Amino acid sequence: MFEKPETTAEAPIEIARYAVFGQPIAHSRSPAIHRLFAQAEHIALRYDPIEAGPAEFPRRLAQFAADGGRGANITLPLKAAAHAACRTHGAHARRSGVANTITRRDDGTWHGDNTDGLGLVADIAERLRLDLRGRRTLVLGAGGAAQGVLSALLEAGVESILIANRTPERADALADRIGDPARVHTAYWDGLRDAGAFDLVLNATSAGHAGTALDLPFSILAPRALAYDMNYGSAAIGFTAWARAGEAGHVADGLGMLVEQAAESFRIWHGRRPDTESVYRQLRRELDA
Ligand code: ATR
Repeated sequence: MFEKPETTAEAPIEIARYAVFGQPIAHSRSPAIHRLFAQAEHIALRYDPIEAGPAEFPRRLAQFAADGGRGANITLPLKAAAHAACRTHGAHARRSGVANTITRRDDGTWHGDNTDGLGLVADIAERLRLDLRGRRTLVLGAGGAAQGVLSALLEAGVESILIANRTPERADALADRIGDPARVHTAYWDGLRDAGAFDLVLNATSAGHAGTALDLPFSILAPRALAYDMNYGSAAIGFTAWARAGEAGHVADGLGMLVEQAAESFRIWHGRRPDTESVYRQLRRELDA
């Protein structure tokens, strides 16, 4: 098991403070990941989980800043609220409208980045060693998870992105926001049977968290397709089992993306990107145990 967060009383005053905000937050792996990175890089820091819903988030963030907080990761359901709380944004946060990494500047304002897409791309390109260029891509879902990764996928050179969402209006709104009509299109979920085959099928829905199985035709899997679930653990079981049954060429859950997006956040805050492999292996062992 991971160590428990240090308490305020125990933490020396000069140690830099970081946090992850979200709701629920108790099971977040981010504190453990950042502590392992910090240990490996010989950086002293404190990193705590902070529970907050959208209504409390501005107040909790202000308190964190008053307590000396320098940076935070942001998870569900706060990524849009975090984007709104930032005065300036990096390219992926600006384009997506959601931030998962915020950094406090000397003037007290926050800068927002989004490292989810970079984490996904790094996991696919470096851990799975698959080329994203030219891939016909199907994104299932149009919520915050999908929103955060589209611009990085486009930048990585995918040929096209088709967004299919249970509620079609959200898919249309997301495609409009990304603003690349030549490469990004939408489809009705019911129309997937006739949508052709894709080289990358990305599950960005939260259906697995509710234990709901997605109704998907195997015809969407091109030969040697990568089927990637942005969820991990029990939430990824349904989609990855479907992909194996459909004989997808490669099947992956989102654990690698989790570690890689954390490494990108770490780089933003500390100026160097930590090695991710040993942390990934440790989390995988724990997940499989
Ligand atoms: P997140 O930030 O994790 O994306 P979200 O913004 O609530 O969370 O979005 C959840 C996504 O999963 C949405 O695309 C949702 O579809 P709707 O927009 O139609 O709600 C999708 N989703 C959740 N349960 C689903 C299910 N059983 N079948 C298909 N899509 C589902």
